[in-house]
Amino acid sequence: MSWTRFKEYNFPNNALGVSLDLSRMPFPDGTLEQMAVPMQKCFAEMSALEKGAIANPDENRMVGHYWLRAAHLAPTAELSKEITETLEAIKSFAARIHSGAVKGPRGVFKHLLVVGIGGSALGPQLVNQALARPGKDKLAVHFFDNTDPDGMDYVLGQIGSGLADTLVVVISKSGGTVETRNGMLEAAAAFKAAGLDPAKQFVAVTGAGSKLEQVAIREGWLARFPMWDWVGGRTSELCAVGLLPAALQGIDIDAMLAGAAAMDAVTRVPNLKDNPAALLSATWYWATDGRGSRDMVVLPYKDRLLLMSRYLQQLIMESLGKELDLQGRPVNQGIAVYGNKGSTDQHAYVQQLREGVNNFFVTFIEVLRDREGPSMEVESGITSGDYLQGFMLGTRDALSEKNRHSVTITVPDCSARTVGMLIALFERAVGFYATLVGINAYHQPGVEAGKKAATGVIALKLKVVDALKTAKGAALTAEALAAKAGAADKAELVYKIVEHLAANAGSGVVKTAQEPWWNSTYTMR
Ligand code: PA5
Repeated sequence: MSWTRFKEYNFPNNALGVSLDLSRMPFPDGTLEQMAVPMQKCFAEMSALEKGAIANPDENRMVGHYWLRAAHLAPTAELSKEITETLEAIKSFAARIHSGAVKGPRGVFKHLLVVGIGGSALGPQLVNQALARPGKDKLAVHFFDNTDPDGMDYVLGQIGSGLADTLVVVISKSGGTVETRNGMLEAAAAFKAAGLDPAKQFVAVTGAGSKLEQVAIREGWLARFPMWDWVGGRTSELCAVGLLPAALQGIDIDAMLAGAAAMDAVTRVPNLKDNPAALLSATWYWATDGRGSRDMVVLPYKDRLLLMSRYLQQLIMESLGKELDLQGRPVNQGIAVYGNKGSTDQHAYVQQLREGVNNFFVTFIEVLRDREGPSMEVESGITSGDYLQGFMLGTRDALSEKNRHSVTITVPDCSARTVGMLIALFERAVGFYATLVGINAYHQPGVEAGKKAATGVIALKLKVVDALKTAKGAALTAEALAAKAGAADKAELVYKIVEHLAANAGSGVVKTAQEPWWNSTYTMR
């Protein structure tokens, strides 16, 4: 890479302290100038979105996550007031928890269990890990982000005898997500088993009128915070979804919001070369031929940003991975995102990145400040952080040498402000990219399809158990059971269900293995 090219394609923003280096994307001359034309539509659509246009047409909703960090920009005074009041309510609730004005049955709360999934968990998890200060955090944060019973037992095991000191925040925009409902029920059961009243320790973050809100009202939960229909799950980190857990942990949420607001101000500028989000989305468009032809590998060289790849995976793939464009034409859009962290990954998949199939581009995230305070020398004049940087720069070169492209985002530190900036940068890049490829970034019809299919499996499980009970003591094959359950065409699903039943104590189902395997039988004892 030449210094000349670096000078042309490195875009530092001194106000933010962030720079975007595109010099390792081998754009032919004039590419950015050409992209500046379609970007004008992105700027116009984004401006309309920020003014309150219906930017999510399928759900007939406004898209207002940018107002969360600049309430005065919300399209009505009522919305501005709601945003400001909710922020104040979050801070005041967190302060009362920290001071012990609101406390658990044994005293001041020490643990926080967050129950949520997808957009209602990934942002809080990212922020929790990026900004944790072990030994100094106000509450130790734990997550239920799945309906995996063993996963929940693991977390409850970590909390151990601390349930009496645990505040539980259940987060669901829709208030009807089954994984979250199950987590809430499992947490409540654990509380009751420990002789505790969940209502006195549970808090809800949810949409008005949702099932979760109804439960929280009926049971008289400790507190409730709103989640608005104009904030999407994967862009909800800077509303109560992310701010409440962060404030409870003791994170400076004003700094996070200020970082996002500062990035928003810069990424609102309708000029490609001055706008890092526009540059990023134009780069994605060029790198993936505007149709996801390459994957994005996210490689932060910072342990604290490990979850950035998972967070971006959802933000990008759930937003851009769409079957139809806005005109209803099949386009099967998306960009696959995966990653972990450097330099750890150099001992894992970076081997393939350098030498294997060339179907990706890397997004390096470089954090300039190594740690709070000075570092020891691991060799004369050299620190561990020097090595971390050395590995990052070395990997970039090693990839470039083999014609593997990369983008580098350099940030000053891993502070609350920086995390807010990164969230805002990627949120807007996703919005711009959606306009470039003509899709709705703000709905998720594919997620709904999976939820519906799961409901069908649960209904079938009940029928299978009924059939087994009716034929109590009889040894039945999966095929025979499917017929008895009135689902002769679903023998495969029935087989999976009975295998699961037989593997779990308490189901009463015993398997007798036979050859070939599909002649194995299942009996209700
Ligand atoms: O981004 C999204 O919209 C989804 O990932 C949701 O956040 C996820 O499905 C959880 O939904 P809810 O918050 O309604 O429980």
